[in-house]
Amino acid sequence: MTERLRIAIQKSGRLSDGSMELLKNCGLKVSRGKDRLYGRVQEMPIDVMLLRDDDIPEFVADQACDIGIVGENVFEEDRLGGAREDAAEEVMRLGFARCRLMIAGPKEWDYDGPAHLNGMRIATSYPGLTQAWLEREGAAAKPVMMKGSVEVAPRLKVADAVCDIVSTGATLDANGLKPVATVFSSQALLIRNKEPFPTEKQTIFDALIKRINGVITSRDAKYVMMNAPRTAVEAITEYLPGADAPTVLDLVGAPDKVAIHAVCRESVFWDQLEELKKLGASAILVLPIEKMMA
Ligand code: PRP
Ligand code: ZN
Repeated sequence: MTERLRIAIQKSGRLSDGSMELLKNCGLKVSRGKDRLYGRVQEMPIDVMLLRDDDIPEFVADQACDIGIVGENVFEEDRLGGAREDAAEEVMRLGFARCRLMIAGPKEWDYDGPAHLNGMRIATSYPGLTQAWLEREGAAAKPVMMKGSVEVAPRLKVADAVCDIVSTGATLDANGLKPVATVFSSQALLIRNKEPFPTEKQTIFDALIKRINGVITSRDAKYVMMNAPRTAVEAITEYLPGADAPTVLDLVGAPDKVAIHAVCRESVFWDQLEELKKLGASAILVLPIEKMMA
């Protein structure tokens, strides 16, 4: 029987769409089983487990899964909690599901810095990260652990403030709270078990990482094409954001003009196009890149 690499992703929540999309952009189609907790990839020997995000670090630490996609917030909190801290490690940041863990309090608060929190109880599902921040900032406040519905704690007088995940801010707003300080910035993270994989599994892992890197680097990259005076090639090349050596092609019937094709690794903005025009470029096209492999 051939080895299969097992990846844990969030079943539903902040990370699930982005995780599925990443796999899709890697050319992997996940067919879900009837129980919807388990999926199989056809194109590579990879199995997918759909879990609660909070369970993912533990599944990877226990080798129930080889790798996983989890929020940095959840992974860091777990690490600070000390449970199995050495068994799983970060492979790379994935650039989606960005959010912030923030201190928030009643809208009428006159927050003027961490000292404002002195003597307060702060409801949070992230006591480790919260405590570390309070100590760093020298605020004498106490985290109160709550598993869910943290945002109702001040109204119920269970706590004076909260430390919770904010992405749009709608949840805080709906509960009469406002964010006042950032405790931790988070995004999706690829983690793996630290034990070396058997050879076959390592080969699958390497192939997957190569594809993920391709997806991430092509995300902002654009293929830029334009015509330009032959004399302007150098100035234009210097100007293009994040471009390596561009391709310069002769134009039939226009000896002093060339076509320039380049991969720009950073976003290309309108004002940069204006700048290219000033340098003599015309017929400028900016195309998305679907896939890229170094
Ligand atoms: C967080 C937080 C809020 C919500 C905030 O929960 O506890 O409920 O997201 O998002 P908003 O600023 O866009 O309103 P999370 O999705 O992390 O859920 P979980 O703790 O149940 O995994
Ligand atoms: Zn969760």
